[in-house]
Amino acid sequence: MNAHDITDGVYAIHADIKTSARFEGIWPIPHGVTLNSYVVKGDKTALVDLAKDWSHSIDQFEAQLAAAGTSFETLDYVVLNHLEPDHTAFLTELRRRNPKVELIATAKGIALVRNFFKINENLREVKTGDTLELGAGKTLEFFETPNIHWPETMMTFDRANGILFSCDAFGSYGSLGDRVFDDEFTADEHAFYERESLRYYANIVASFSTFVTKALDKLKDLPVKTVAPSHGIVWRKNPGEIVARYARFAGYNTGSPCEKEICVIWGSMYGYTKQGLDAVIAGIEAEKVPYTIHQIPDTDASFVLADAYRASGLVLAMPTYEYKMFPPMAHILDLFERKHFTGKKVLRLGSWGWVGGAKKEYDEKIANFKWTSVESAEWQGAPTKEELALLKERGRELARLVKSE
Ligand code: FEO
Repeated sequence: MNAHDITDGVYAIHADIKTSARFEGIWPIPHGVTLNSYVVKGDKTALVDLAKDWSHSIDQFEAQLAAAGTSFETLDYVVLNHLEPDHTAFLTELRRRNPKVELIATAKGIALVRNFFKINENLREVKTGDTLELGAGKTLEFFETPNIHWPETMMTFDRANGILFSCDAFGSYGSLGDRVFDDEFTADEHAFYERESLRYYANIVASFSTFVTKALDKLKDLPVKTVAPSHGIVWRKNPGEIVARYARFAGYNTGSPCEKEICVIWGSMYGYTKQGLDAVIAGIEAEKVPYTIHQIPDTDASFVLADAYRASGLVLAMPTYEYKMFPPMAHILDLFERKHFTGKKVLRLGSWGWVGGAKKEYDEKIANFKWTSVESAEWQGAPTKEELALLKERGRELARLVKSE
């Protein structure tokens, strides 16, 4: 892969990560992910963000650094917008190869450099408004944007060229191959990356939507011509598209309307809950509300989170299991809580065998979720004809609620 010229003296480089290992040790990346960095060359040379040694990433970086006329050994500065190790784990080896390289981060970022990597020299703390002069007309300006995705996060701006190096913000899963710019991808490819950016957002960023909104407000007057994140596509033709997309995503759990659709999540031990769910789905279909459907635990939670995050409505179908909720659903609800999936319209249903219990645990779990619940439906064993009719009506009721938003 080549380095990609963004403008004179500014290059995008990236590693395509293709691995069966999970992102953050949790989230599957069957379509890969990229680790992006940016070379900014004046009289001095800075690398904005780094990588971890993962799936041949360092070999890929070395080749592209050489194509950009530099190397790990000769860099003057590395700007660390964010210290999560996907962008920094190579620091120890980098410092070994290049003892003079100066590392630049916020005060909280420098503390993490010290704590994670035991590096204590050639460190520079920066705050909002500070600049780094590289010479030859290249200046980098820093903006603290905490909690996108960790408290130490900042963004870096090349004001002369309008390039915003945004790190995790505006990022996505999905490897890129030899192309990196938004104008190099087809509409179908963009649709794919939009889905992967939603999954990335729901998995990684959703807990911090309030901070995304704050950062968007802070940056709104910057003359941004290119959005250069550290995962995924570099936006030089339509940077406003990814900014608007992130604003929409941030709104899903901070008070803006979600999409008028329903995400159905279900698990069934012996098919009785599924029988009831089929009636609910018939009700949803009768109201012509679009829905996605995921059986758990068969579908990984990463994908469930993506569809559930954007949907206004949720159907949660699970049996009672050992006096409590079906464990895979308890796991999903735990993730909803951690990721702040608020404001949903929800129908819960399920069967029980010798005794109930899911309802009690569920009601306690969602007490602070700020959800609007359609009256839940439970039944013993297989649902009767009357119960199926009721379940269909509950499905219609949820669908009408979603449509009315
Ligand atoms: Fe891509 Fe929060 O690290």
